[in-house]
Amino acid sequence: MNPLGGLPRRATLIESFRRTDRNLIVIEFGDFFDGTNKLDELRVLTYLRALEAIGCDAVGVTSSSFAMGLAFLEQCMKDSFVPFVSSNATHTDTGARLGERFVIKETSKHRVGITSIADDRFSRETGVSKGHPHDAGFVSKSSAGSLARVQEKGIKIDEPFKALAENLSLMEKQCDILIVMSSLSQQENERIADRFPRINVIVGNNGKGGEKLAGGTLIVNNRSNKGKLLGRLTLAVSGKNAIAGHTVEWLSIDKKLPDNKEVRKILDGFYDAVAKDEKLWQDVEPKLASFDLEKDQSNQYVGAANCASCHEAVYRDWRKSKHARAYNTLLDRNRHFFPDCVSCHTTGAGLATGFQVGQATGHLEGVQCEICHGPASEHVATDGVFQLRKAVPEELCVKCHDSEVSPNFKDKFEALMRSVNHANSKGLSRTGTGELTRTE
Ligand code: HEC
Ligand code: HEC
Ligand code: HEC
Ligand code: HEC
Repeated sequence: MNPLGGLPRRATLIESFRRTDRNLIVIEFGDFFDGTNKLDELRVLTYLRALEAIGCDAVGVTSSSFAMGLAFLEQCMKDSFVPFVSSNATHTDTGARLGERFVIKETSKHRVGITSIADDRFSRETGVSKGHPHDAGFVSKSSAGSLARVQEKGIKIDEPFKALAENLSLMEKQCDILIVMSSLSQQENERIADRFPRINVIVGNNGKGGEKLAGGTLIVNNRSNKGKLLGRLTLAVSGKNAIAGHTVEWLSIDKKLPDNKEVRKILDGFYDAVAKDEKLWQDVEPKLASFDLEKDQSNQYVGAANCASCHEAVYRDWRKSKHARAYNTLLDRNRHFFPDCVSCHTTGAGLATGFQVGQATGHLEGVQCEICHGPASEHVATDGVFQLRKAVPEELCVKCHDSEVSPNFKDKFEALMRSVNHANSKGLSRTGTGELTRTE
């Protein structure tokens, strides 16, 4: 799951399938509700708009769908054209269902019913529902925590087998192919397959991938992929609506894919709103604003790619470092547009020519050369050394490596400094007569 990080390309893949395959069904687990920040809410709403744009057929309700609160989830359900489906999430007080029981998607030959089933472990733990075949003690701390929060919000997750029995009997009457998104364990999905052989496909949410044919039911699991893969299941269906064959592919969302235009517009609007929202940025100080080189407005950030031609070996060393990957760390966690995070994980955020969310400043992603050595446009233009910092003071490092994120930084400073100093990298240097030579 990495909604915004991977979406435009995923959208492009889906669009290209749709052109060749009008039987394409797009489903999504509703486990992208995470985070506690206002900005997280904007991110989720944006993701939902993008799902609409690509024509997502159904979003399943999992226990983590409640992670940002019931009110927010319900607002999303109301505002979004993408249907949320659930077999077993209901309001504790009114018994009203959250989302729809199921949706029907008409393909050229079939009426496909899609629903989802959420894990009821929290209810069982607190004795709300009984008789569900989970082992006690199976509840992990984190899921127990998030489930406890669900319950606080007035939602009951009904016992899955009972809820499914009821829902499937309705679906059967109207659909000939049945698909269930399940956030239960693999073992339980096998039990579900055993008990309800009419289900054609169970899509599991274990994050590890893998597939299994259990009787006539195919169980396929998603693979946690940080938005870098798109799972595609192709089914061959026999005359009796049984699965006659299947293939599962994990398609890598390649950088070379062009963006889906509509989705790109939605994302650009989002990044633009984040970049321009002064409130979001007011508490974020540009980390190096107090240093002399950074105060000099004529010196601009140019990006590490511009150093490679002369400092080839240093550049190669740096590319392998954690500093170089610091932006990917944010991307992997979907926080690449959070003002606070980019202030330490990019180059020059908050300064006039530094990294800016949503702008064409990809060349300043990560903690680059110019963090340590200063903005280097003048050096690159003249290859003069006077405008650069060569030695890097500790007080610069600790602007980012503060006592919160790197508690032992000061004790280990010398070793850490050695690890970022490229004494062993070789590259261009100037000879005694001022000519440039390659020392590699
Ligand atoms: C056109 C070639 C060229 C480019 C491009 C270039 N440099 Fe240099 N750089 C040099 C030369 C030449 C020296 C001097 C080497 C020496 O005297 O040993 C140097 C020296 C340095 C030094 C050491 C400064 C000192 O006081 O000894 C640093 C740090 C440095 N460059 C950083 C960068 C960074 C960062 C970039 C990219 C933003 C960059 N350079 C781009 C040619 C270049
Ligand atoms: C602009 C903020 C910033 C500055 C300044 C900075 N760093 Fe970092 N540093 C980071 C971030 C962010 C990471 C984590 C990157 C990741 O893994 O995503 C990091 C990671 C590291 C690591 C790798 C940690 C590990 O566990 O292996 C070392 C070593 C390091 N920094 C040393 C330094 C030193 C020494 C300085 C000063 C010369 C310095 N850093 C200056 C932001 C900064
Ligand atoms: C004050 C600067 C600062 C801010 C703000 C900051 N980081 Fe970091 N981050 C660092 C540094 C420095 C490290 C490296 C810590 C170390 O190893 O000593 C780091 C490490 C990390 C790591 C661990 C990388 C790994 O090796 O797996 C993650 C994940 C991370 N940051 C994410 C975030 C996110 C998400 C945010 C915003 C919510 C954020 N950071 C905000 C400075 C910062
Ligand atoms: C985390 C901080 C940090 C980053 C990032 C960093 N450097 Fe350095 N760099 C240093 C330190 C520390 C030294 C050693 C300075 C000294 O001699 O005291 C150094 C030295 C250099 C030198 C002089 C080498 C010599 O042998 O005299 C050059 C050139 C240089 N860096 C270029 C770069 C380039 C180009 C990049 C990016 C590709 C880069 N640096 C990224 C910290 C950094």
